[in-house]
Order: sequence, then structure tokens, then C-alpha cells
Amino acid sequence: MLYRELGSTGEKVSILGFGCMRLPVKGRYDKIDEKKASKLLDHALKNGVNYLDTAYPYHGISNSEGGNSEVFLGEYLYQRDERSQVYLATKIPTWLLKEPEDMDRFLDEQLKRLQTDQIDFYLLHSLKEKNWFHLEDLGILEFLDSAVADGRIKYTGFSCHDETAFFKEVVNSYQWDVCQLQYNYLDEQIQVGKEGLEYAAERGIGTLIMEPLKGGVLARQVPFEVAKLWEGSDWTPAEWAFRYLWNIPQIDVVLSGMNTMEQLLENLKTAEKGWPDSLSPWENEVMEQVKQAYKDKITVECSACGYCMPCPSGINIPQCLSYLNQAAMLNDITNVRGQYYFMLKDTEHASNCLECGLCEEMCSQRLPIREKLKEVKKTLEE
Ligand SMILES: NC(=O)c1ccc[n+]([C@@H]2O[C@H](COP(=O)([O-])OP(=O)(O)OC[C@H]3O[C@@H](n4cnc5c(N)ncnc54)[C@H](OP(=O)(O)O)[C@@H]3O)[C@@H](O)[C@H]2O)c1
Repeated sequence: MLYRELGSTGEKVSILGFGCMRLPVKGRYDKIDEKKASKLLDHALKNGVNYLDTAYPYHGISNSEGGNSEVFLGEYLYQRDERSQVYLATKIPTWLLKEPEDMDRFLDEQLKRLQTDQIDFYLLHSLKEKNWFHLEDLGILEFLDSAVADGRIKYTGFSCHDETAFFKEVVNSYQWDVCQLQYNYLDEQIQVGKEGLEYAAERGIGTLIMEPLKGGVLARQVPFEVAKLWEGSDWTPAEWAFRYLWNIPQIDVVLSGMNTMEQLLENLKTAEKGWPDSLSPWENEVMEQVKQAYKDKITVECSACGYCMPCPSGINIPQCLSYLNQAAMLNDITNVRGQYYFMLKDTEHASNCLECGLCEEMCSQRLPIREKLKEVKKTLEE
């Protein structure tokens, strides 16, 4: 296993982290197959994985209740006496924080669930512009200071699926140790993106990558045009995706949700070659062509300049168009639709369009936005 230093923390973390959001289950998401999951963790730890990522709701029945991932992990580490051998990361469910006392309540509950006195990396889960001001008002940054001071957490961080400008604002607001962002070869210009990754890394913040395979889509649903570009290579699609990420020096840990032994074995093997700047010129060139092949499938040439905003009806036009493009690029409409509903407020959805046309007057690309919003509604809402 290769290790990289995690931002300015000085901690040496395995470049492959174990994401505990997609553990093997017995039929239902909240029923972890503990025997299989333990076998996977045994093998991962034995082969040098030392970073485990979980969160309060993982493997639960809804986002408003504690799931079974933390509980399973706590019991696993206790039974195996492995707690001191790993970096344990979990996240506070920011969307459930209503009163200042909720923060201590969740942290104390999570310490119990994980059967530990200290959480190594404690992240604010899924920060979004729409909840950030509320969290600041609650005193979340002061809470982090106090939890570090009393030793309940060692390092602080946050995860974010929101856009670059907001991500940078959060980065600037506190002395974070780590941040977690969605990143893969298709997501360099959406959400936090390449600009956000580099911004955090320049400031010594450790970078943890989530959804390196876009939730598995980049391994499962490879379009014919892309498969053709990889002809002649014996790398699997997952291998290409991981090698692409580890090639980037600003990336510290790539978290992978592995739910079979085959996936774990493959990802461990790939990680053996995950040095920074390790792709050959030919491999780099192929990946540029792969990205282009996906881009050629997009249906609207929106550059997300934001000139169309604000929409009088409150629609998040650039984001709606970005989801329309993702739906066209990926053979996985369910995943994209899930993101569309998860990330955008109801008022930001395309169906709120009153066809006033103000956005089209302002659009730098002269796009037929009203028509495109109808397509978004048809594709993602109906
Ligand atoms: N903070 C947040 O908001 C947030 C959000 C998302 C994730 N995360 C964290 O980040 C971790 C990683 O994200 P992720 O689970 O979405 O990662 P991912 O690697 O993008 O997707 C995981 C899925 O990829 C597939 N896979 C993994 N290795 C493979 C291989 N070698 N070959 C083929 N398919 C393979 C599996 O899919 P199938 O077996 O299902 O086909 C697996 O369920 C999560 O587990 C979680 O800990 C955090």
C-alpha cells in the first residue's frame, strides 16, 4: 500500500480509504451483512488500508435516523482490537442540527456508537449554501474548537457537494484539517471541481475523494465510444478511474465503497501503482479523449457562467442544465435524478419555469433555456 501525507496534519494515510456507505447487505440497505463486511475489512486492513470513512446515516432507513454503519464499525474495531490501527472518520448530520445542544448530543452519541473516546476525523456532513448560515448561527465552528480542545475529536473537516464558490467560502472560514469532495474524471468542472481541489490543497487542507467511480457508474455503464478508446489496454474501467485520480498530486485519499472481495482485491492491486504523476503521456492522452467522448454526448453547451441568474422564479438554471447533460452522458438516469432531488431545493427545480424569458436575454451562449428547462422537467421530474 502507498501512503500520502494528509494535508498539514502530518498523518500518513493509505491512498485507498474504505468507504463504509456501501457495505455488503442482506437484501435491505439497513441490514449489513456483517460476516461479509468483516471479511472485507479484515483483508483491507491486513493490506495496509488505514482510513475508514463512515457517517451517522449510512446504512439507515432514512437520513434522519442513525444508520448501522457506525454501529457495525464500532463493534468490528472493538472485537478485533483494531481501533488504534486505523484513522476513523465520521460526520455529523448537519441537516438535523436545530438547536446548539444538538451538536454535542450527536457527537456523544456517535462516540458511543463507534465505541471510542476520540474520533480522528470529524466532518460536517454535506455542507450546502442553503444550510451554512444556519450552522454558523448555531455556533458550529465554536463547537468544533471545543470538541478538539476536550479531545473528543482530533481533526476537523467537512464534506461538500456544492459549487466551487461556496466551497472556497467554507475553506476560508476556519482552520480545517481535511475536506471531502466528489471527484472523478467526469466531475472536474462540476460541484467543487478541480478549482476547489487545488484551492484546498494549496492551503494545506487534506483532500479526501468521494464517488471516485461516480457511485459505480464509471465502472458499470461504459459507453461504446469510451470502451473503444481503451481497446488494447488490460486495465478495467475502475482501474483507469482510480489511476487517473492517484496521478493527481493534490489528492491524498481516494475513498472507495467496495462491497465485494473482487472489487477490494482489484482496488488494492490498482493502489500499488497509485503514485502521483505516474500516468504515461499515452495514458494521459487516452483519458483526455475519454473525457471528450463523454462530453460529446452532452445536449446543452452551458458554460455555467451564471449570467442567466437570478431567475425570478428561483430556478437554479446552470445546475438544472448540468443535470440534463449528466443524464445524457451517463446511462444511469436513476442516479442523476437522485442527485437532482437531493442537491436542489424544490424552488430550484425546472418545473417552476414561468417562461418569462429573462434568462435567455442574459445568456452569454444564447441558449434556448426555456426549451431546455422543459427537457429537464421531462427527463428528471416526470
Ligand atoms: N460526504 C458525503 O456526502 C459522501 C457522499 C458519497 C460518498 N461518501 C463517502 O465516500 C465513499 C466513496 O464513495 P462511493 O461509495 O460513492 O464510491 P464509488 O467508488 O464512486 O462507488 C462505489 C461503487 O463502485 C463500485 N465499485 C467499486 N470498486 C469497483 C471495481 N473495482 N470494479 C467495479 N465496480 C466497483 C461498486 O458498485 P456496485 O457493486 O454497486 O456495482 C461500489 O458500490 C463512500 O463509501 C462514503 O464513505 C461521502
